[in-house]
Amino acid sequence: MEEQRKQVIFSAIQPSGTITLGNYLGALKNWVALQDEYDCIFSLADLHTITVRQDPAKFRKNALEAYALLLACGIDPQKSIFFIQSHVSAHAELAWVLNCYTQFGELSRMTQFKDKSAKHADNINAGLFAYPSLMAADILLYQADLVPVGADQKQHLELTRDIAERFNAAYSPTFTVPDGYIPKQGARVMSLQDPTSKMSKSDENANGFIAMLDSPDVIMKKFKRAVTDSDACVRYAEGKDGVNNLMGIYACVTGKTMDEIEREFEGRGYGDFKTAVGEAVVDHLRPIQERFSQYIADKAYLESCYRDGAARASRIANRTLSKVMKKIGFLPD
Ligand code: TRP
Repeated sequence: MEEQRKQVIFSAIQPSGTITLGNYLGALKNWVALQDEYDCIFSLADLHTITVRQDPAKFRKNALEAYALLLACGIDPQKSIFFIQSHVSAHAELAWVLNCYTQFGELSRMTQFKDKSAKHADNINAGLFAYPSLMAADILLYQADLVPVGADQKQHLELTRDIAERFNAAYSPTFTVPDGYIPKQGARVMSLQDPTSKMSKSDENANGFIAMLDSPDVIMKKFKRAVTDSDACVRYAEGKDGVNNLMGIYACVTGKTMDEIEREFEGRGYGDFKTAVGEAVVDHLRPIQERFSQYIADKAYLESCYRDGAARASRIANRTLSKVMKKIGFLPD
């Protein structure tokens, strides 16, 4: 090989409901930036989504829209492999295998499982419990070197590493043990209504999050209602969670530093500041929303993209899966 092998990055997002500005600034925008430097494999983790009951028609619609939106954000299906998890059967197959190499005790300790089972007390299904071994399968199938994940997924990545090391030790080196990838400029976007908790699409108060497809009017309105404080000064400081969050968002979409932002708004009130943040977000999202409308109107193109993505992903995934099956001692078919 002439070219040196690039490191492999794997990441995934669930197509559940609307994708928010928090998902975009915290994850997707970084994915887009990684595509030149790494061999990127991105997936819509729809198998994970059915751990919570879904309405079939909405689920189908959400998945297609999420696929189109990620393309619109700049995931480039030429540079990267971008596929839908349920289209590559190796994920479900390896997940079963890995379930047999994952301990009940380990899964019981996952904080996300504890949180989600408290939230969906009427549907604590085995899939919700085994969610981390499916996530491990996602990552390990592609021999990923690096996995960009937020703080809430760190524990799952740790478990993935443990599973990979355990399997490698029991047989012989089979899986690359992945590291977490911390983006150079990470953004943790908080709720506009409760800036001590993460911006979430499942927030009951829709004013807490900006959906990527919110109209300019709605975006402006939500920013105007954003919670701030009584200090009436745009500066980044401890205890000013609301203002810090707005400054973080503004910095992300304009590329300005916190110092520059403080200077820009010196002697000006929060009203001005919120309007500026809202307008900057509207400007940033406009081209993405336009591209989204084009993609979602072109079902044939979307289909060809995700089919091609699944075919390319399957080739890599099946290679890993057959190695695993052989090492365990399954009779070859
Ligand atoms: N569980 C992740 C989330 O909800 C999504 C996900 C599924 C994922 N498989 C993954 C993330 C593999 C990174 C790697 O955010």
